[in-house]
Amino acid sequence: MQLRNIVLLAAAASVEAAATLRFSCSQLVVERLDPLVNPGENPSPHLHQVVGGNAFNVSMDAKVHDLPTTATCTSCTPTEDFSNYWTAVLFFKAKNGTLHRVNTFGNELGFTGANGGQTVYYLTSGKATAFKPGFRMTVGDPSIRTAEELNRRYKYMDFTCLASSMTRGGQTTYFPRQPCAAGIMVSIRFPTCWDGVNVDSPDHQSHVAYPNGNACPSTHPVVIPQVFYETYWDTRPFNNKADWPADGSQPFVWSFGDQTGYGIHGDYVFGWKGDALQRALDANCNSDLFANKINCPTLAVQTLDQANKCVKPKTVTENLDGWLSQLPGGMPIN
Ligand SMILES: *[C@@H]1O[C@H](CO)[C@@H](O)[C@H](O)[C@H]1NC(C)=O
Ligand SMILES: *[C@@H]1O[C@H](CO)[C@@H](O)[C@H](O)[C@H]1NC(C)=O
Repeated sequence: MQLRNIVLLAAAASVEAAATLRFSCSQLVVERLDPLVNPGENPSPHLHQVVGGNAFNVSMDAKVHDLPTTATCTSCTPTEDFSNYWTAVLFFKAKNGTLHRVNTFGNELGFTGANGGQTVYYLTSGKATAFKPGFRMTVGDPSIRTAEELNRRYKYMDFTCLASSMTRGGQTTYFPRQPCAAGIMVSIRFPTCWDGVNVDSPDHQSHVAYPNGNACPSTHPVVIPQVFYETYWDTRPFNNKADWPADGSQPFVWSFGDQTGYGIHGDYVFGWKGDALQRALDANCNSDLFANKINCPTLAVQTLDQANKCVKPKTVTENLDGWLSQLPGGMPIN
């Protein structure tokens, strides 16, 4: 969704039922865990950047691991949101083949003070049903390497080459092919229709679906809010074209070894306390674009400084800093 659409949505909120919740979630931890796709695996195959409640763990079995009662803090500004949101991590590949991790930084539209992490949205354009306890899903597939496959299977995930922090438009589904003066924004949007029954599915995707036009398909009739991540990657230290590959290709690689960008994917585990999310949706809450402010009488919000204080000690101890001879976990680049 482009900035002007968000502004329009926010404006529309006053006349029709629509929620435009937008808030910051600071970095909780960067480590090789994936309790959704690789539960119990310590470490998981590839590296993630994770935000949200500090109940994030090696395993998060919905039956025994209740996020709102397990977490003691959240890195998101709504204090009742103990969900976990995560994506893969970007690396810069130098000419000599060594790799350097790219940091996230605060979205400069309102969240400059955030210690990295990402911006999270919950968007609706009418009545929507909030997720049930235990709900989780993924979108995208790390094995995808072509535009054709990405476009056939998924929608609404892309890269924005930021000329300034305000840049919107010009998105691509592949890594930007030239240096981006203000960094790279990665946008990941989840499907908005649910089967109404299952809080998960074996592939973590089949219980949700994209709408056909504006209507949810009969197999997935329940409208859920659009969960949407915007992550600002600080590629600015790697903008010297002289350090880029001599063959003219771009130097960034996802932590799962993808140099194309098409393997873009995201993970979501719902963890709002009680009916806090449903109440915010029903109240058509929206957010100020240029400030850490949610216009929502039913939601308590903490400052960015408070959100920054919620960090989780690393479970996986491996060096992620400096120049690395390979991607964490030895993920092959292909
Ligand atoms: C993570 O799981 C381990 C093992 O079940 C447990 O000892 C630990 O307290 C958990 N940590 C958090 C933050 O939930
Ligand atoms: C590889 O390249 C990077 C970036 O130019 C440099 O900082 C690093 O020292 C190099 N490492 C080796 C082992 O040559």
